[in-house]
Amino acid sequence: MKLKSLFDGGVPVFLAPMAGVTDAPFRKTVNKFGATATVSEMVSCEALIRNSEKTFRRLTGESNIKIVQIMGSDPKCMAESAKINEDNGADIIDINMGCPVKKIVNNNSGSALLKNEKLAVTIAETVVKSVKIPVTLKMRLGWDNESKNFRSLAEQFEKVGIRMLSIHCRTRSQMYGGTADWSEISDLTEIIKIPYLVNGDIKNFNDVRVALKRSKANGVMIGRATLGKPWLLNQILQKINQGNDVPSPSLEQQYEILMQHFHDTLDFYGMEHGLRIFRKHFCWYSSGMSGASNFRDQINRSDNIKSIEKLVKDFYKNHH
Ligand SMILES: Cc1cc2nc3c(=O)[nH]c(=O)nc-3n(C[C@H](O)[C@H](O)[C@H](O)COP(=O)(O)O)c2cc1C
Repeated sequence: MKLKSLFDGGVPVFLAPMAGVTDAPFRKTVNKFGATATVSEMVSCEALIRNSEKTFRRLTGESNIKIVQIMGSDPKCMAESAKINEDNGADIIDINMGCPVKKIVNNNSGSALLKNEKLAVTIAETVVKSVKIPVTLKMRLGWDNESKNFRSLAEQFEKVGIRMLSIHCRTRSQMYGGTADWSEISDLTEIIKIPYLVNGDIKNFNDVRVALKRSKANGVMIGRATLGKPWLLNQILQKINQGNDVPSPSLEQQYEILMQHFHDTLDFYGMEHGLRIFRKHFCWYSSGMSGASNFRDQINRSDNIKSIEKLVKDFYKNHH
């Protein structure tokens, strides 16, 4: 697959990887509406090597474009897991250098690599050399306000063959606090030739417009705003590239979307695990609707699929 083809439809709109959220059933739901591409949840290179085929299938499900995000700190392990993914059918490998979570950072992985440019670039180079498919990379602005080194890193990543960058416009020390500074990355157009996506706090079409203008990015990557709204990326794609206003689905349609997503999740993980995973999605789908908190309490107290289906049906019926 050619990375360039992702830009054929105009401005690309990517679903951001979100561990524990953007699993195969969620990405299937988003892809049914439309998105340029969706990225798998991150997976540690060690886990991939240990259980390669099963992990790959679990990560990619029925995605149309299979982008697998790998995370780790050992160049050899990262390269090996990239190769395994390629052999299993991945279209693109994405390297995680943005995750701020302590457990990951303490392992010198994710955003910790921003503090170690030499290792970061060695990982990028080793992974690029290990596969024939395109390798992309997701990062933050730097470790903290005093060490925003994304410009120098971007330049080095391009040199070793990284084909696209996604940049969450925060530092690691900001975690998810404050606001993403889209304008910070605008001078990347003068530093690198590879495309880059702007990411962080983009919630709607207006944010997309402003973020693209301020960042001069080639496309956008959106995460949290899609929770409970798997149709959002398609609305943005249509509006920005065709000028079409696509209305949000009616509540009746939202009910159908939610139920299909729920059943896909149960099929994918099995009843018990699937229900545990899906509970948060009930919260997100119902967010902003009257009586949502009572609805969530009731759902969270039940372990019975049939009763949950009835609760959901009644809740949506009451809103018609
Ligand atoms: C629950 C959750 C899980 C995440 N998991 C990942 C991940 O696996 N890999 C990654 O690169 N970023 C991960 N992120 C970061 C998002 O991809 C994204 O950069 C961040 O949420 C900012 O974008 P947004 O404001 O559009 O959500 C995660 C974010 C959240 C909220």
